[in-house]
Amino acid sequence: MTKNDVCVRPVKANDSPALLELFEACFGTRLSTDYFAWKYYENPAGEVSGFVADAGDRLAAFYGVIPEPWTVGGTDTAIFQSMDTMTHPEFRRRGLFVRLAELTYDDVRHRTGRCDLVGIPGPASLFGFTGKLGWTKIHDFEVLTVPTLVARAWPKRGDRAVTVECVDRPDERIHRILNAASKPEGDAWPRLDGAFFDWRVFGRSPKQFRVALASSGGQPIALCVYTGNSPRATQISYVLGVESDKAREWFPPLLRFAAKHGVVLYTWRPQRQRLAALYRSMGFRANPLVRGSLPRRSPLIVRSDTGFVNGMAWADPQLFDLQPLMQD
Ligand SMILES: CC(C)(COP(=O)(O)OP(=O)(O)OC[C@H]1O[C@@H](n2cnc3c(N)ncnc32)[C@H](O)[C@@H]1OP(=O)(O)O)[C@@H](O)C(=O)NCCC(=O)NCCS
Repeated sequence: MTKNDVCVRPVKANDSPALLELFEACFGTRLSTDYFAWKYYENPAGEVSGFVADAGDRLAAFYGVIPEPWTVGGTDTAIFQSMDTMTHPEFRRRGLFVRLAELTYDDVRHRTGRCDLVGIPGPASLFGFTGKLGWTKIHDFEVLTVPTLVARAWPKRGDRAVTVECVDRPDERIHRILNAASKPEGDAWPRLDGAFFDWRVFGRSPKQFRVALASSGGQPIALCVYTGNSPRATQISYVLGVESDKAREWFPPLLRFAAKHGVVLYTWRPQRQRLAALYRSMGFRANPLVRGSLPRRSPLIVRSDTGFVNGMAWADPQLFDLQPLMQD
């Protein structure tokens, strides 16, 4: 087989070792050997839909999407997230990304009768998505940061009655919060029910998520998912409380807990005012001087064959309520 000769076919579970090599060639990161098994085949919402370009001795490219349980316009529905887009440096600019993506969208249509997608791509693929594949960029998630020193020193006011502990495995108290919390604002959001949350948070993500669980009077009242993979920067990936009107009691202790290690906390500027105000009240600010591994902003892109999902205009940024936990 020559360098120009690739066989395009659906991705298979035993592609994992070759996908690890391809990922390293594209992103410079070595993932754990069971990463793809977890992400593509253990998702309770369903298996990956994706294609590879097989060059015989290695993979030249991969494109795929994973299903997620969403509620859109009040109705439960499957939305697919685009992720891990990669073409080996020696095989780029030959249309492989676009070819594999179009095959994937056909496969999703075949599986579900529709093809409704979201993505949070890196800069290298953004133009391919919007210029060649019919996606629309509808939003940029801006990064907010606060030094951990500032978060730790934040005055304790009404939150003395709240205790916080770290939970690092599935726990029924987390499920109680997920079930009892008020629904996100907006008309389109991923349903982080128990099984999907456990897979996403306690699976084998390289972000090494942890959960800070807040209780009051022995009852679990709120949680914060944060990353444990960097000694310096901790991402606040997801925040949820049972009684959002009492957030000023549980939000500061949760954030102080996550700020125990490292130099800086960061998150996306929330699309919803209530959460945005909480972050602001803890000293989070947009920081134009953010350097290094923290991106300045992440684009949200969407695609749907009809432009509508459950009657909602899919490219309307006001629809969405997303926190960084969902980024892939
Ligand atoms: C992004 C990436 C997947 C593109 O793969 P590819 O197979 O080379 O893409 P294609 O040949 O199908 O190109 C599709 C279109 O994307 C755009 N594009 C691709 N690479 C580009 C580049 N380096 N600069 C500008 N535009 C680019 C072009 O519009 C291109 O169409 P054209 O060649 O007709 O102009 C590949 O460069 C890659 O793996 N990069 C590193 C990993 C990464 O960042 N992945 C994205 C994570 S979301």
